[in-house]
Amino acid sequence: MNLNAAFHYWVTLLIIMNFPLLQQTPVFESFSDVGKRIFHPNGIFYWANRAKTEGEYNATIGSAFGIETDMIPTGRDKKIVYSMPGLQKYLNIEPERVASYAPVAGVSAFRDLWEAWVIKKGEMARNMPYPPILLHDLITKPQICNGITNAIFLTTRMFLNPGESIVCPNKRWGNYDAVLKYQNGLKLSLFDFFKGKEFNLSGMIEAIEKCAKIQDKIVLILNFPNNPTGYCPTTLEARNIVESLVDACERLQKPIIILCDDAYEGFVFNNAVISNSLFYMLVNRHHLLIPIKLDGASKEMLMYGGRIACITLGIHSSWIKPEELPAFRKEWENKLQGMIRSTISNSNHFIQEILVEYLKDGFVKLLEDQNKIHELLKIRYEETIRAFNAFSHPNISIDPAAGGFFVFLNLNGVSATTFADHLVVKYKVGTFPNENLEEKVNGIRFAFCSVAANQIEECFKRIFQAMNDFFPISS
Ligand SMILES: Cc1ncc(COP(=O)(O)O)c(C=O)c1O
Repeated sequence: MNLNAAFHYWVTLLIIMNFPLLQQTPVFESFSDVGKRIFHPNGIFYWANRAKTEGEYNATIGSAFGIETDMIPTGRDKKIVYSMPGLQKYLNIEPERVASYAPVAGVSAFRDLWEAWVIKKGEMARNMPYPPILLHDLITKPQICNGITNAIFLTTRMFLNPGESIVCPNKRWGNYDAVLKYQNGLKLSLFDFFKGKEFNLSGMIEAIEKCAKIQDKIVLILNFPNNPTGYCPTTLEARNIVESLVDACERLQKPIIILCDDAYEGFVFNNAVISNSLFYMLVNRHHLLIPIKLDGASKEMLMYGGRIACITLGIHSSWIKPEELPAFRKEWENKLQGMIRSTISNSNHFIQEILVEYLKDGFVKLLEDQNKIHELLKIRYEETIRAFNAFSHPNISIDPAAGGFFVFLNLNGVSATTFADHLVVKYKVGTFPNENLEEKVNGIRFAFCSVAANQIEECFKRIFQAMNDFFPISS
């Protein structure tokens, strides 16, 4: 087993992150605080590259990959990154529609269609603890930015000063750290995501209460289906989360801003959990509860490279009189436009026009297309759970998973980096390790979205064999 390689990985990272050569030059000294602390933790690219060059199976990548014919019967017998079936038809758009700048807040027709899509998703939602509410007067028109990554940057920048804290779980998308900590200079007020096999509600509320002691508002970021675990709340858990947040607003008498990172909205493969965003349950619940929905085309429309995300604020009916609503929306819009204009200026015009054409063909078609990819991924999800349960080792456990693109395997007794290295070198299975002992995280993320269903069992067989090399158990 190659312990050296894991050691080498960390040492290389450490050297790069210290920028020894840059530091010898006046360039480094001249950097701002952000310039000094920022770095690109390219862990995922490193492991994806190793999976490609050393592995037979690549379960590192957070994009859905597969053979084209599995989704489109007339497609090619070629492994591709999946896109919406029939997208090709919309790519031929008149140059004059795409050459100009897009409006700062986004193409108006696209914003209208996305607003209707947000409302539609709310109406279609299943297993929600509350009946759907009429959202029309309770949301702002979505504003468009450069992917959910950018949406997280813009919204946290708008609500928090450097040095302030944001509440988020220990199991989270790795890039949060770059955006929140290194870019925006925030502190992460962490809570353990799970308590046993359930969402750690008391941990989240404690983190909120702690934050409330030092700040005049609390910002919380939640992501369901979750990256890296695939966790989604059950109906009961969702109700408890909402009621506890309402209760916290009432007790603390401070605003709680909830950023709903809905990157994987709709990718839910288990009927025991809520099928759509928590956002729909947070709108109009308490005048101090401020839900903000961050969703977009990257995963929902399989347009990762399109870089289009939408920011929608949930409005409380007590905030303003109904007749003041249009003016209120304009004010919010102007604030966010200021953020967009001063950072990215505006978003990709071409992709917004493509999405306009696509969405104009109606939600029935969109849902049909989405269903094809959801079905494919559901098969892989079910196969992943089945394959995991077909093997057993006391040092491997899986987090509760119900959707998204991944599952997370907790590893006991061995460093996740060492394990991932061993797994790819000896067993040719590439995964993404997440190791942060201080945060009580040590495991590998298995991206079932990029592994064919008939290869998943073999991957799990090898994962368990790899653990057996560290901790042999009699078979
Ligand atoms: C939880 C989560 N949020 C946000 C993103 C980023 O989305 P986008 O590509 O739209 O920036 C990702 C992408 O992997 C993600 O996993």
